[in-house]
Amino acid sequence: MKVLVIGKGGREHALMWKLSQSKGVSEVYYVKGNAGMEKIGKLLPGEGNGWENLAETVQQENIDFTVVGPEQPLVEGIVNVFKDRGLRIFGPEREAAQLEGSKVFAKELMRKYGIPTATFVVFSEPEKAIRFLENSVFPLVIKADGLAAGKGAIVCQDFAEGKRAVERIMVEKEFGEAGEKIIVEEFLEGHEASIIGVTDGEEILLLPSSQDHKQIYDGDRGPNTGGMGAYAPCPLMDEELLQMVREKIMLATVKAMQKEGKIFKGVLYAGLMIGREGPKVLEFNVRFGDPETQALLPLLKTDFLELLMAAEEGSLKKIKNISREKGYAVCVVIASEGYPGNYEKGKTIEGIEQAEKTGCIVFQAGTKTVDGKVLTDGGRVMGVVGKGNTLPGAIEHAYQGVKQVHFAGMYYRKDIGAKGLKYSENISKEK
Ligand code: AMP
Ligand code: GLY
Repeated sequence: MKVLVIGKGGREHALMWKLSQSKGVSEVYYVKGNAGMEKIGKLLPGEGNGWENLAETVQQENIDFTVVGPEQPLVEGIVNVFKDRGLRIFGPEREAAQLEGSKVFAKELMRKYGIPTATFVVFSEPEKAIRFLENSVFPLVIKADGLAAGKGAIVCQDFAEGKRAVERIMVEKEFGEAGEKIIVEEFLEGHEASIIGVTDGEEILLLPSSQDHKQIYDGDRGPNTGGMGAYAPCPLMDEELLQMVREKIMLATVKAMQKEGKIFKGVLYAGLMIGREGPKVLEFNVRFGDPETQALLPLLKTDFLELLMAAEEGSLKKIKNISREKGYAVCVVIASEGYPGNYEKGKTIEGIEQAEKTGCIVFQAGTKTVDGKVLTDGGRVMGVVGKGNTLPGAIEHAYQGVKQVHFAGMYYRKDIGAKGLKYSENISKEK
């Protein structure tokens, strides 16, 4: 089969890498890639913007199956456009992608169906929101309703910060239309974990648990980024907790969407806060996590194409379990100096092959090839993935790979996975 991957980051390089290992895949295509994707796939010919034009090309090129990386195309309805033409594509339709596209939709669904999440109030007028904040106890979290590239949630410590957040989102429209409505939400304490499942609208199969590292600096300090590294599985999520999350959150959400007449097929990703009252949903995403996917896919033994196609055609039942390698994987993201703020591009990257020689897998993100050289072309430049029988072993392996890579101004966190080690220590102490 000819398979197309949409998107051009580390997540998409990982998706292509994994798909190209499936028995049923003859060729993997991409639309706008990076230097890593170029090495393992083929550029889909044809120009033109918009999903209709892309669907046209996909039809002409006889692509059999399309996998979508980022949320934007899903929320814009790429799946509807492809399905209208009878093309096979993995992901939720526009109406179901609202689970990520509108936080108000997601929160109201969770409230209606008793899916655990922070308590919240919705506002569509800034004056009313500010009046509410005057009588509130802080900290609180204020979130823009729509897509905001992961920047739409603001934790506010006092009234002044809360008022400022409302002004930024609703008056100054920092996130555009995404800020027409906001959510004011209870601040949850605990530890964050990501649970990613593949669903056909009826059943759901969970990939190993994982944990992202969102802040730019070690010790989870500094501004949020797209994610500076991830590891899997996460020791916080023991079997019992996983079962509970599966039933009360993941399956409950799939069933709730069914009842709402918005069958959800594709990836359901829950960002969870694990606190004293048990796991609660911080947010839903309707696509694979980035960088979590870079750590998850190297552990996956189940045929990836078969899994995604079974979800798309509604026959996930025939795949009983997701089988995976024992042990851990750690992905360390290497970024350009200045990210998540301004950064320079075009720096020559050395050492990718040397990193691969250590046995690490390098998933490229913001890179491009110019005259045979690989140059930086984005904030997050690549993810280096190491594996090990133990979490410390996987961490060591990943950093061995990272040390081989060089470019001017390269930056990475030195503590990816360290939180996981702490949880393991605490768990063994409790036992
Ligand atoms: P979101 O985009 O909703 O996932 O929020 C982004 C980040 O903000 C999360 O990964 C958390 O670190 C933090 N956050 C969001 N909601 C809450 C909450 N209710 N309590 C505490 N932290 C939160
Ligand atoms: N790792 C966070 C995300 O993919 O949204």
